Amino acid sequence: LVLVVDFGAQYAQLIARRVREANVYSEIVPHTMPVAEMLARQPQAIVLSGGPSSVYAEGAPGIDTGLFEAGVPVFGMCYGFQLMARGLGGEVAHTGSREYGRTRVTVSEGGTLLGGLPAEHTVWMSHGDSVTAAPAGFEVLASTLTTPVAAFEDVDRGLAGVQWHPEVLHTEHGQQVLEHFLLEIAGCRPTWTMLNIIDEQVERIREQVGEGRAICALSGGVDSAVAAAIVQRAIGDRLTCVYVDHGMMRHGETDQVRRDFEAVFSDLDVVDAADQFLDALAGVQDPEEKRKIIGREFIRTFEAAEVRVFGDLASGAQATAYLVQGTLYPDVVESGGGAGTSNIKSHHNVGGLPDDLQFELVEPLRTLFKDEVRAVGEQLGLPPTMVWRHPFPGPGLGIRIIGEVTRERLDILRRADLIAREELTAAGLDRDIWQFPVVLLADVRSVGVQGDGRTYGHPVVLRPVTSEDAMTADWARLPYEVMETISTRITNEVPEVNRVAVDITSKPPGTIEWE
Ligand code: XMP
Repeated sequence: LVLVVDFGAQYAQLIARRVREANVYSEIVPHTMPVAEMLARQPQAIVLSGGPSSVYAEGAPGIDTGLFEAGVPVFGMCYGFQLMARGLGGEVAHTGSREYGRTRVTVSEGGTLLGGLPAEHTVWMSHGDSVTAAPAGFEVLASTLTTPVAAFEDVDRGLAGVQWHPEVLHTEHGQQVLEHFLLEIAGCRPTWTMLNIIDEQVERIREQVGEGRAICALSGGVDSAVAAAIVQRAIGDRLTCVYVDHGMMRHGETDQVRRDFEAVFSDLDVVDAADQFLDALAGVQDPEEKRKIIGREFIRTFEAAEVRVFGDLASGAQATAYLVQGTLYPDVVESGGGAGTSNIKSHHNVGGLPDDLQFELVEPLRTLFKDEVRAVGEQLGLPPTMVWRHPFPGPGLGIRIIGEVTRERLDILRRADLIAREELTAAGLDRDIWQFPVVLLADVRSVGVQGDGRTYGHPVVLRPVTSEDAMTADWARLPYEVMETISTRITNEVPEVNRVAVDITSKPPGTIEWE
């Protein structure tokens, strides 16, 4: 275990991922955690992240210098580097010169940390203060034009640091530097692999669930599918999977999902609830109201499935009903690392179940990042259509029809969306694009001319985006030829649509979906 101490910048998650890319397991902890508590977790090493502030700023987060004396190897990056320098008696000064972005670094002495790196290379910086003198016992390894001490190490004590951000993509050799620290200075063993993750989780789930039964709602997406597959490996057919077809999936999707899932999950309950959802949505235009209705109908359907699974349990036969969820590590970190149980409170009293039945979450992906989930999915032998599926919102096409959702509108959008997806795949761009919503502006009409006649049709909007985590996104620069083919095909093959627009808004300020 390597602990990444988060000093409040957005870099901690990235660092944690990079540590795992070196096959060493990592977790993020807040800088407010007492050092004794960190040490109690017996980490093999500790990484101090960058942070937004100057070490001299009022209220700047600090670290108990006892950390450096505890015999646990510590690596400081950027702000963490300065904390280490200052905490051990080095000098950190407001030199007045700042470095932001791309910077050339000169390696004077490779040492262990920078061994084998080119004498000059490009790194990514973001700091105001600079370390002007290393603490006693440290060897200075590199400098820049304005920063005399840009990297140092004390291999005997297992302490090292760099002023730059080795975790970001634009830093050359960043991963190598991190691995030098982890593997050579700290002596971590690179044993964190997808196989380990699966074995570890399977064991944990067997312990948690015992002889009990569990239920999992599959959305069609990769997270819930991988979570369920791990749980199935642990408890076999005591897991029931429920897939609710709400009638707002894309063309052919429900069949695909059903085929994929039937091949993987031994106890699969496919509930056709399309009429129920679409009837409930009749006449509704407001996006939030649409979402609420879809959420409500989903819970109703799922609760009925819970009664089917757990209803025959006489009070006391199984005191706990287990719900499997595909919660990922970023969700856990962003919600403050809490227990994450608030969202099942509303489940506690499902009519038709024993009153004293408790609900408990099973979350085998709680420690994983999205790319790890995909790797686990591949390791488990799940089909690529499942593992590499683009994210798709729970409410489906319901929030991609601007205005009331009707069967006719769904049919129009499905045909346009299918063309866009076909052409994206034909261009070989599926893995470059995070998501490619197509949005139907159902209440907007514009004049066009198709064939010999005037038309009065609907526009659709293409919304291809690139992203790493959906928190931020950029509009994807699709090649003109691809957009041209999509536009021509949609206006030719979907007569109700006479205009195709492209959304060129990043997130923020736009969201990925239009509703
Ligand atoms: P936005 O539109 O907020 O979307 O930028 C961010 C990501 O979340 C997906 N999304 C949803 N997923 N239920 C889901 O399961 C929802 O209600 C929902 N709304 C948005 C969206 O597709 C994107 O990946």
